[in-house]
Amino acid sequence: MKDTLFSPAFGNKPGTLVGRDFDMKLLAAGLDAVPGSKERARLIIGQRGLGKTVLLLELADYARQHNYIVASPTVVSGDMLERILEKLERDGQKYLPPKKNRITGGTLGFLGFSAGIQTEGDKEPEKSFAYRLLDFCIKAKDAGKGVLILIDEVQGNSEELKKLIIAYQEMVGEGQNIAVVFAGLPATVSQALNQHVLTFFNRASRLQLAPISVSEIAIYYHKCFERLGISISDPWIDRAAAETGGSPYMMQLIGHYITISASDDGVITEPEYHRALSYARKEFIADICETTLSPLSERDIDFLEAMSQDEKESSIKDLCTRLHVEPSFGQRYKNRLIQAGVIVSKRRGFVEYAVPYLNEYFRMQKE
Ligand SMILES: Nc1ncnc2c1ncn2[C@@H]1O[C@H](COP(=O)(O)OP(=O)(O)OP(=O)(O)O)[C@@H](O)[C@H]1O
Ligand SMILES: [Mg+2]
Repeated sequence: MKDTLFSPAFGNKPGTLVGRDFDMKLLAAGLDAVPGSKERARLIIGQRGLGKTVLLLELADYARQHNYIVASPTVVSGDMLERILEKLERDGQKYLPPKKNRITGGTLGFLGFSAGIQTEGDKEPEKSFAYRLLDFCIKAKDAGKGVLILIDEVQGNSEELKKLIIAYQEMVGEGQNIAVVFAGLPATVSQALNQHVLTFFNRASRLQLAPISVSEIAIYYHKCFERLGISISDPWIDRAAAETGGSPYMMQLIGHYITISASDDGVITEPEYHRALSYARKEFIADICETTLSPLSERDIDFLEAMSQDEKESSIKDLCTRLHVEPSFGQRYKNRLIQAGVIVSKRRGFVEYAVPYLNEYFRMQKE
């Protein structure tokens, strides 16, 4: 059957936002807070595929409907600041007076047309980012609008990020109606960021993304399969929802493979159902597990691999014995991997994987 509802990819906006009502409320409340307050600067932290980019995109829509001019998610990179200004200009063009392009130089050719004309608009890049941002914020304020800047894939030690943060603080000092939301992986966010960025991020209000609720996923599957005309039993839906481990990306993958495995008249056989689940699992392992592990050190990976011998949680003491290391080493790995968002400790002395299917990944490696 043709899939018209599920969209397993990265950075796309899903047809329906599942299980993020509370997160969206928090983000929306930030926009409604007094300019300059802590909630006006947010940092969304979450593992791969947990829906950071999706939340930024949803927030962009919400903000536009609530009197904000929005720079849609910009990935941290060399030309980030230029991109932010371009996006603000484009998003705000409906509301703000057009830029004056007074001719300041160049030659006029036949009939006055020439490629060599320089206008004041062209000269703008000579001004600092903070100057141009303040200029934009003032114009936005005159038009009754706030300014929201969304930054995706935060990187440690980025000069551009530092400049943006300094400019944001200056805008706040000038009493401008501005908000900024950053999103990044736990490992990158907790990396030794340069001092200025670190202090700012420590003070910004953090939104740690959790897996979405499996029961909400089951309800969503019910609705989707009904709409698509696929007949599938409740226990199969519940099992599919449980297999997502609360990952929105896995929810999209499983939904997609079940849908395309069904016949045009909405029937899915047991072997097809199991094949769909196993296909989704393989894809998740390749897309999420492998990319999560790739930046980690060999020793970190040894620690994670040693955990795969346990069914659910692992005792730190056992892990140290398996790895032939002193308890202090074990503690150090534990802390580092918790910071990187790869494991969690739900009770003292024990850890478990924070990313679904890492266990299967390590077991597959051994086969
Ligand atoms: N709340 C949600 N409801 C439905 N689908 C979602 C939700 N959150 C994310 N998704 C889907 O999950 C997939 C991954 O989402 P997204 O790209 O936002 O993740 P991410 O956290 O930004 O990942 P990465 O760290 O790799 O950039 C997409 O297919 C997206 O449509
Ligand atoms: Mg993303």
